[in-house]
Amino acid sequence: MYIGLDIGTSSVKAILLGEDQSLIASATAELTVQRPHPGWSEQDPDSWWRACETVLDALKAEAPKAMAAVRGIGLSGHMHGATLLDAAGKPLRPCILWNDGRSGKQCSELEAAEPKFLTLGGNRVMPGFTAPKLQWVRENEPEIFARTTMVLLPKDYVRFKLTGEYVGEMSDAAGTLWLDVARRDWSDALLAATGLTRENMPRLVEGSESSGTLKVDLCGRWGFDAAPVVAGGGGDNAASACGVGAVDPGSAFVSLGTSGVLFVTNDRYSPNVDSAVHAFCHAVPDTWHQMGVILSATDSLNWLAKVVKRNPGELTGLVGNVEGPSPVSFMPYLGGERTPHNDVDIRAGFFGISHGTDDAELCHAVLDGVAFALKDCLEALSVAGTGIERVLAVGGGSRSTVWLEIIASLLNVPVDVPVDGDFGGSLGAARLGQAAALGSTEGIFTKPALKASIDPVPALTQRYAEGYERWRKLYPALKQAGF
Ligand code: XUL
Repeated sequence: MYIGLDIGTSSVKAILLGEDQSLIASATAELTVQRPHPGWSEQDPDSWWRACETVLDALKAEAPKAMAAVRGIGLSGHMHGATLLDAAGKPLRPCILWNDGRSGKQCSELEAAEPKFLTLGGNRVMPGFTAPKLQWVRENEPEIFARTTMVLLPKDYVRFKLTGEYVGEMSDAAGTLWLDVARRDWSDALLAATGLTRENMPRLVEGSESSGTLKVDLCGRWGFDAAPVVAGGGGDNAASACGVGAVDPGSAFVSLGTSGVLFVTNDRYSPNVDSAVHAFCHAVPDTWHQMGVILSATDSLNWLAKVVKRNPGELTGLVGNVEGPSPVSFMPYLGGERTPHNDVDIRAGFFGISHGTDDAELCHAVLDGVAFALKDCLEALSVAGTGIERVLAVGGGSRSTVWLEIIASLLNVPVDVPVDGDFGGSLGAARLGQAAALGSTEGIFTKPALKASIDPVPALTQRYAEGYERWRKLYPALKQAGF
């Protein structure tokens, strides 16, 4: 039996899998995000741990016999979060999350001061990443910076609570910008640029390797017969890839979660810094990946749902059959954007509202706007020489068939829909736990059974291609106008 624990932005999810990877039990506990200033996004690291305790207690209550036989635990989590610990392992401040935009100034200064961020780090220095956040803390909270002994990513803090050890793994470590991504090792030069050394970083393992075993007292609490191995795990996107079997070069998925991601697996390190494509290590050895990331996917839909006081499912239900783009356009930049603009200051907007515009038209515009932003990611990946032939859909937003129809026609690729679409990183995490416990990746990262494949519809593809040409002119116009 294997457990996958995914520290998502809005909830922690745990699943319990059998030896044959069948689902035995699952549990979820909600999390909240704090936004104390405009553009900031933070979470209390101990709220992750309390949520993990809740979901593991729930698994034990639901399936005590299966829990006794757990041999491996895998971790997945939202990436880039700066979790700063003192010498006693206590968090010094709230974690600064992946969608926090406070470090724009530090990003430009770090890029100018250390060109190796682009060559070794393989990515633009963007405000969501961990390194510029530490530079922000260094400049704005020097007492906290001085007391920082260890910097961990969110799932690695949970690992510390589970095993008592400071360990990270390659896929998430690449998102700090302190990693030499080709060599899969910390870079002393990149760490030095933000006043840190290897001493402040956890030891690194591959995602499918063991990072240690569960503390003995916790084995008793959750009724494990023997201490399970805790796998390296993965950042949520690499872990999701493991969950849908996207570990072979060329395999791709689109994720409609709080963020939106277009992810492709590569057999080598393939950076393309100009279009803000992310080039990271995968969670399995000798494998890398590229991805385009947009900051507000279901976040845009949830925002609209809150404003018009409906639930998101009800709202997408109003859209009905789509025959082309909405007459209203939406730019999904609620908290700035990463791919392709790397623009922390840009904000969202609706254009083309008329007297007849209602909730359905606004929702249609939001679904289109997120899809257009994913088309921007596809274009950025193709400039990097990466083509995509078909994608698998994952994440909460993939429950909306109309959204997937828009994406299939706009990206002009078939979209495969797994039978169980909404596992996020938890399934991949459990599989990484299995690989670590068995000491092999053989036969573990299989592709899921599909419940549907949505093909592009030529007439829609044509109309959405025209809509995209119009939509993409909005960003430069907004910038020029000083928004
Ligand atoms: C990836 C990214 C997000 C988070 C949250 O670079 O910032 O996808 O991992 O899911």
